[in-house]
Amino acid sequence: MNITSNLVMSRYWLEDPILMIPGPSELHPRVKEVLNGRFYPHYGHEWGEIYSGIEEAVKKIFKTKNETIIMPTPGSLGLELGVVNVANRGEKVVALTNGFFGDRLAEIASYCGTGVVTVSAPPGYVVSVESLEETLDKHPDAAALLVVQNESATGVINPISQYLRVAKKHGLLTVVDAVSSFGGAELDVDGWGVDVCVGYPNKCLSGIPGAAPVSISSEVWERVEKGIVSPFSWFTNLRVWRWYRANWASHGHPYPTTINTYAYLALRVAAEVAIEEGLEKRYERHRRIAAAFRAAVKKMGLGLLSRNEAYASPTITAIELPPQLRTHIEELVRKMLTDYGIMISRGIAATEDTTIRIGHMGVTASPRYLIPTISALTETVRSLGYPTSSAGEAIDAFYETLRSQ
Ligand SMILES: Cc1ncc(COP(=O)(O)O)c(C=O)c1O
Repeated sequence: MNITSNLVMSRYWLEDPILMIPGPSELHPRVKEVLNGRFYPHYGHEWGEIYSGIEEAVKKIFKTKNETIIMPTPGSLGLELGVVNVANRGEKVVALTNGFFGDRLAEIASYCGTGVVTVSAPPGYVVSVESLEETLDKHPDAAALLVVQNESATGVINPISQYLRVAKKHGLLTVVDAVSSFGGAELDVDGWGVDVCVGYPNKCLSGIPGAAPVSISSEVWERVEKGIVSPFSWFTNLRVWRWYRANWASHGHPYPTTINTYAYLALRVAAEVAIEEGLEKRYERHRRIAAAFRAAVKKMGLGLLSRNEAYASPTITAIELPPQLRTHIEELVRKMLTDYGIMISRGIAATEDTTIRIGHMGVTASPRYLIPTISALTETVRSLGYPTSSAGEAIDAFYETLRSQ
């Protein structure tokens, strides 16, 4: 056993670990090239044209004609911008939550001074459309619905198109966190009526962090311009973003501050790669690979945290460990890294001690990355005393499912 460990530890292969965590994911080779390329200042005519092209590319992934901005920030600040531009302090918002990132969205709204009503489901489950309906009937004064599309903490994809239909029927504005599904799962901002949608490049696009695409509906822009909503902030205030677009776009600087242009160039290439693949084909690839991986996990005798496979995430699988492996969870994750050079994650929050999470997003949604992961996982689990299948049996299950779809 120590032989493999020593080989990896000595960096015999001169390779970095493979990132099978739920983001950041492995970089696409074309993204890496950008990082060695020319540095652009964040303004000027040439840059301005490049920047507009990036907005056009991300609109295709959002499937929207909405005006879109790209914030030089983590995804969470995009979500904060969403919240403060759909509801004033003291107004009520409804947040759907079935895991850490849903709770995070509710927390952001609470810190921003809105009154948050949460509708929750336990980890592994989705909130039912009926309970959303009931809550909205009880709170006719709610201004907005906040929801995560792909709950990275539990490996569950939420039926957001259904939630949004209900929200629209009740006249609510909507904020969607699409951070871990952007470019990996179907998104239809205009068709579903998403008012603010936040994507991110370092997960399903195999890009780097630092540029957060945010699409904003004309209704939200208008309400902020008319002062119906007045955020108590500067950087996340859409009035400020509008001002810079109106007054500085001709200098190639239609945003308020300095940005890291490498992050934006990386986003451009990552988005182009996704569009070249074909978005529908790309979503199908993620769906099929995820189903095949789940079949391998089940063959190993392990369970899924997602209680209903119809809602299992196409980009992240959360594996619920049997009790005898839970006490070894830290060792399991460490061994995957030190013995096999594969980085995976533990659960977060309520499921931190019971689950491990594996991302299959962007370039890693492929047998090239999942076969070594399955093989290493079976060996690791066996070394910790759990009677799992052989790696070969799990890989057979993976391919059988892949072929049968
Ligand atoms: C679903 C989801 N939302 C939000 C975030 C937070 O993104 P950031 O760390 O870029 O703010 C993450 C990060 O993993 C995520 O998976």
